[in-house]
Amino acid sequence: MRAGPMSDLHLLPQDSFAPVCAGVVGAGYVGLTTGACLAHLGHHVVCADIDEERVERLRRGEIPIVEEGLAEVVAEGLSSGRLTFEVGAAAAAADADVVFLCVPTPQGADGGADLRYIETAAAQIAPVLKAGALVVNKSTVPVGSTRAVEDVLERPDVAVVSNPEFLREGTAVYDFLNPDRVVIGADDRSAGERLGDMYAGLNAPVIITDPASAETIKYAANGFLAMKISFVNAIAAMCEAVGANVDDVVEGIGADQRIGKAFLKPGPGWGGSCFPKDSRALVKIAADYGYDFTMMKGVIDVNDEQKRRMVAKVRRAVGLAPGRGLKGTVVGVLGLAFKAGTDDLRDSPSLTMVSSLIAGGARVRAFDPTVDVAPEGAKATVLAGIELVGSVREAATGAKVLVIATEWPEFAKIDLAELATLMQTDAVVVDTRNLLDAAAVRAAGLRYDGVGRR
Ligand code: UGA
Repeated sequence: MRAGPMSDLHLLPQDSFAPVCAGVVGAGYVGLTTGACLAHLGHHVVCADIDEERVERLRRGEIPIVEEGLAEVVAEGLSSGRLTFEVGAAAAAADADVVFLCVPTPQGADGGADLRYIETAAAQIAPVLKAGALVVNKSTVPVGSTRAVEDVLERPDVAVVSNPEFLREGTAVYDFLNPDRVVIGADDRSAGERLGDMYAGLNAPVIITDPASAETIKYAANGFLAMKISFVNAIAAMCEAVGANVDDVVEGIGADQRIGKAFLKPGPGWGGSCFPKDSRALVKIAADYGYDFTMMKGVIDVNDEQKRRMVAKVRRAVGLAPGRGLKGTVVGVLGLAFKAGTDDLRDSPSLTMVSSLIAGGARVRAFDPTVDVAPEGAKATVLAGIELVGSVREAATGAKVLVIATEWPEFAKIDLAELATLMQTDAVVVDTRNLLDAAAVRAAGLRYDGVGRR
C-alpha cells in the first residue's frame, strides 16, 4: 500500500503551469481535498457546500472530518486567498472556468447509485455557468452519467468530462498529490487535455479515454481491490482450517511481483463509504446491461460472511454451544471507525459486529479515539445502544473478550501485562486486524485469536 507521509506539501507548479479559476461543489472528504489541493497547486478555488454551518467552520479553517494533512492545505489556501468557501452550488460555479462535482452518490433502494445530488447540483449550476466552462464529474457514478449530467445542464457550450477520484479516506491529501494516475473521460479530447493541464504540477501519467471507460475504471478499481481483500480473507479462513499461517502465505504470494503485497491484509471485512456501495453498484450496472457478475457477488458474500466469522470467534472464545446466547458476557471493543485514520462510521465492520454481539445478549463496551463518549448529531444516532467509553482501559476492565476491530496504531502499543490484570481470568483477545503479536499476548497470560493465524 502507498505510504502516507505528508512529504509533498511543497510541490511547486511547473513553468508551463496556468492557474485556473475552479469551483468545487461539495465539501466532503473528496470535494474538500480536491479544492484545497487544487489551491495548493496554484489554482483559484471556490469550494461550496449546502451546509451553512460547515461553510462557516471551513472559513475559520476548522476541518469537519478526520483527514491527515487537510487542515494544513486548507490553512494554506485560506491564507494565500486562493481557497474560499461559499454556500450553494451556484456560488462555486458562477466565476469558474472548471467546475468539479464532488457530491455523494449513496446506494439507492435497488442497489444502484442514487444520482439525485448530482442532478440537483447540475440543475443549480446550469443557469450560472460561464460560456465555454468545463464541468468535471468526480463523484462515483454509473456508466452513462456523464451524458446524464449533459442532459440536465442543457448547455451545448459546456463540455462535461468524467474524472474519477482514487482517494483513500485518511490519506486523501497524500493520494491527491501523489496519484498513481489521473483518469479523464472526455468525448472531446481537447476538453480532456484542458483538465489534464490543471494537474500539470503532479508527477503522474494522465490517461484520457471516453466517459464510459473512465466511469468503468473507477468501479473496476474498487471492485478489484475489494476482490483482493475478500480473497485474502477467504484464504485466511482456509489457513485456520488447515493450520497454516496467513501472514506467511501473504508474504509468500506477495513476493511474486504479478501479485504484490498491497491490499492483502486480512481483517474483519471491508467497509466504508465506497467499497460496499460501489461493489453492489457494479453488480447492478452489469445486470442492467445483461451481464450476471457472479464473481463480484461472491466477493460481497465472502465479505458478509467474514463479519459473521468474527462474531463466531467471540462466541467460540467464551465456549458457547451453537444456539446459546451471549447473555452476561462482557465484551470490550477497540475501534468503531471502518479503518484507522478516519472517523467515518459508514458501513463499518466494527458496527456490524457490535450490533450482532448486542443482539446475542453481550454487554459491549466500545472505545474509539475519534468517537466521543457522548456523541452528537448523526453519530449519536448511529451509535445509539452502544456503551461508549473513553479509553482502552475502560473498555477492557472486567471484559471476558476484547475485540480489536479497527487498526488504530495506539492499540498496537497496549500494555499487555496491564490488560491481563484488567480483564477477567482466562480472557481472550480477538484480534480481527492481526495487529498484536500473538506470542506476546499469550506470554501476558491472555488467550489470542487472530485472522488466519495459527
Ligand atoms: C477506497 C479506495 O481505496 C480508494 O482508491 C477510492 O478512491 C475510495 O475507496 C473511493 O471510492 O472513494 P477507502 O474506502 O477510503 O478508499 O478505504 P480503503 O483504504 O480502500 O479501505 C477499504 C476497506 O478495506 C476498509 O474497511 C479497510 O479496513 C479494508 N482493507 C483494506 C482491508 O481489510 N485490507 C486491506 O489490505 C486493505
